[in-house]
Amino acid sequence: MASAAPSPFLQIDKLTKAFGALKAVDAVSFSVSEGEILGIAGPNGSGKSTLFNIITNIPFRADSGRTVFKGREIQSLANHDIARLGLARTFQRETVFPTLRSIDNVLLAVENGGHAGAKRDNEARAEAALDLTGFPATMHNTPAGGLPIFHRKLVMIAGALALDPAVVLLDEPAASLTEGEIDKMRTLILKLRDAGTTILLIEHVLPLLTSVSDRLIVLDQGTLISEGTPGDVIADPRVVEAYLGGAA
Ligand SMILES: Nc1ncnc2c1ncn2[C@@H]1O[C@H](COP(=O)(O)OP(=O)(O)OP(=O)(O)O)[C@@H](O)[C@H]1O
Ligand SMILES: [Mg+2]
Repeated sequence: MASAAPSPFLQIDKLTKAFGALKAVDAVSFSVSEGEILGIAGPNGSGKSTLFNIITNIPFRADSGRTVFKGREIQSLANHDIARLGLARTFQRETVFPTLRSIDNVLLAVENGGHAGAKRDNEARAEAALDLTGFPATMHNTPAGGLPIFHRKLVMIAGALALDPAVVLLDEPAASLTEGEIDKMRTLILKLRDAGTTILLIEHVLPLLTSVSDRLIVLDQGTLISEGTPGDVIADPRVVEAYLGGAA
């Protein structure tokens, strides 16, 4: 006899966000298993970053739809409560404070992310997160503005990891990186997954996206147009059309 299917680890159900007449995310639904890397592709302006915004409620929430994490609806919670429950994100645009030391950038993320404890505990958390990314210990005191782009990205990722998330949402971590740095980013993403972290990964660098993702979803003009294994999705005529249409 068939038993009831367990509820998915993370379920996105018809999430929608409009800016005036523009539906940036239009009734998008998908689910994510625990420990999975879900890749998110789509042409520029297709709604990928907006999707992360409305899942994390940073900086704004969805107009409608539900986000269910471990059986609990979280779409209406304050963003620090969503972070405390275990969902942490990075941003596509740079979010480091250039004059602050690298370690203080991560510390600030801890203090803003719903995990604030005693100062010494927060500092230990920030240091451990930087170490986890492979960020050199010799650079903890370097102002973030003086770091190469790869290291600034590690500081941003450490800010998310310092919240000890069950789910990390990475928005284009490989943008502007060299091939060698992209390889290091791949290694970091797989290391996080191997440690049990569930990962949602937005990325235009397709060799990275297809090599690490267990499954892919593709957005086009706010709607989900394809979902499946990387091989199947990349070959999907709707996906090819969406990318070619955008390039035309
Ligand atoms: N705060 C906002 N106010 C108004 N329009 C917005 C806002 N944020 C995004 N948009 C619009 O919503 C659409 C989706 O934008 P979004 O940034 O989510 O796309 P994206 O898939 O992340 O693109 P890219 O690959 O270029 O990062 C675009 O048309 C964008 O101009
Ligand atoms: Mg984006």
